[in-house]
Amino acid sequence: MCGIVGIVSESKDCLKKLQEGLCALEYRGYDSAGITFFVNNKFKTIKNVGSPKELFDGLDLKVKSNVGIAHTRWATHGKPDKVNAHPHLSEKGLFSVVHNGIIENYRELKDSLLSGVNFKSQTDSEVISNLLEYFYSGDVLSAIKNVTKVLDGCYALAIMCKDDKDKIYFARKNMSLLIGINNNERYLSSDLSAFSKECDTYLTLPNNSYGFIQKNKEEIFNFNNEKVCVKVENIENKAFLTKQGKFNYFMEKEIYEIKAVLQDTILCFKENKFNFKDKEFFQNIKYIKIIACGTSYHASLVGEKLFDSLGIMSNAEIASEFIYRKPYLPENTLAIFVSQSGETADTLAAIKVAKSLGAKTLGITNVKNSAVDRECDESIYLHAGVEKAVASTKAYNAQVLTFYLLKNILQKPQNKEAEFIDVLEQNIKKLNIKTMHKNILPVVALVKNSKNIFVVGRNFDYITSLEASLKIKEITYLNCEGFAAGELKHGTLALIETNSVVIAYITEKNLIDKTLNIVAQAKSRGAKIVIISQFNLKKLVAVSDYFIKLANFSEQFMPIVSIIPIQLLAYETSLALKHNPDKPRNLAKSVTVE
Ligand code: F6R
Repeated sequence: MCGIVGIVSESKDCLKKLQEGLCALEYRGYDSAGITFFVNNKFKTIKNVGSPKELFDGLDLKVKSNVGIAHTRWATHGKPDKVNAHPHLSEKGLFSVVHNGIIENYRELKDSLLSGVNFKSQTDSEVISNLLEYFYSGDVLSAIKNVTKVLDGCYALAIMCKDDKDKIYFARKNMSLLIGINNNERYLSSDLSAFSKECDTYLTLPNNSYGFIQKNKEEIFNFNNEKVCVKVENIENKAFLTKQGKFNYFMEKEIYEIKAVLQDTILCFKENKFNFKDKEFFQNIKYIKIIACGTSYHASLVGEKLFDSLGIMSNAEIASEFIYRKPYLPENTLAIFVSQSGETADTLAAIKVAKSLGAKTLGITNVKNSAVDRECDESIYLHAGVEKAVASTKAYNAQVLTFYLLKNILQKPQNKEAEFIDVLEQNIKKLNIKTMHKNILPVVALVKNSKNIFVVGRNFDYITSLEASLKIKEITYLNCEGFAAGELKHGTLALIETNSVVIAYITEKNLIDKTLNIVAQAKSRGAKIVIISQFNLKKLVAVSDYFIKLANFSEQFMPIVSIIPIQLLAYETSLALKHNPDKPRNLAKSVTVE
């Protein structure tokens, strides 16, 4: 969703650096972008609907400036247009502000403290610059302090004040904000990827903090106005700076990275297990609750089945459902939160609820130091590398694999670990993404022209079907539903007609005939049939219009990789329909608002 980048630099090339930083944030999703920078001691603010790249197209990047803030907006309050784009200037032009998050009491503030202000935009964010102006009497920090007292909601803010030409101020509450450190240069951003390649260190601003950056220092205060010291960390993995390379889109690149991601995940596990602070963390666990959204929720469903098979009662739930009911978590519950970005608002809200119910909390996330990582008692990292395409691919495979590794740890008596890892590694070696890619190409035309697509499967294949249908929907915009194969006959079969497409997953030997029954019923009503299976059996090939052969992965580990053909099919169909698979309409990479 929205992205923030700010720079205070000794060198006067801040426009170029803001451009690079903002473009690096594009992957989070945007509909407009804007920038404020100091030039000749005055604010210059430019906004545009469309991409950050378009914003900078009309700008002379050689203009000398050493302080600036920029923003990619994902519309929540007010339509995506130039006026609603950030930065928002205060009425008298003293402050310029970019904001991630939501101000819940903005209407009340407009009607009370700010009743005399002539607002230009429909946003909640515009109240912030005007509140700063309202409280300002020469000291920006104390104005910010007062503003934080009256704002309800969540925010990461980068603030420029006309009277202070060498600083960017900030405040954060329940939204991420980081400071990147370079010689005589400080960055402020919602995301590591916006920092320049030269930044080797950074710090994560604590929740409920405010302060400022200058070119060679930062000062941070908590909401009790005490100065706080924050540990500076090395930027270890600069993989976030990776380019698309030979691939046409990030999504394609990320699918091709799956094999390496799975291998890395196993390597890290072999080296340090999960390296928890609390070595007794898993003792006395009686019940496991897994909570997540979207693709991460689908991976959680795999976890649920794996833990259940150990005799540990387990249940996966969508975060936005969990938080709006009265959940019951028995004593000795382990609550696991799965999130690629580690910043998903619903998942973060669920952590709070689970903690208040006394559960132990474990995060599974791809982003170290993300909010999920910080909020949970312990964390497992995914080692998937940065995922830039909006549609999650390699992170899903890494999440599913992580559940297998976790299952092995929880198993009692413990499985022979070396043997288990060895079988996994041998299987992963067999993965050939290029061959899978070639195999799905003949199916693209069929899917592209279909109005009604169903993906069906049983047991683990049902979970893969849910994730497959999400992938197809989000980047092709075609109507596609994932179903438990046995459920089709309980109503949905009525939708099957000539030219419906039924994609059936059949990766479990004992369920082949059961799923084939359903496929036959759909076929006899005119549906075109695609079967995805590792079993090259005559009866499967005979019933299918297209048969996609999966690699001979051992059946027990198939859920780790069975999604790959559909990740590729969705990608190719999206291209065939002339969409941009990396940036599907209406969707953002990290969903930081509820
Ligand atoms: C779909 C997709 C989303 C995310 C969901 C949760 O391809 O990417 O469904 O899985 O928004 O995001 P995280 O995992 O970052 O919490």
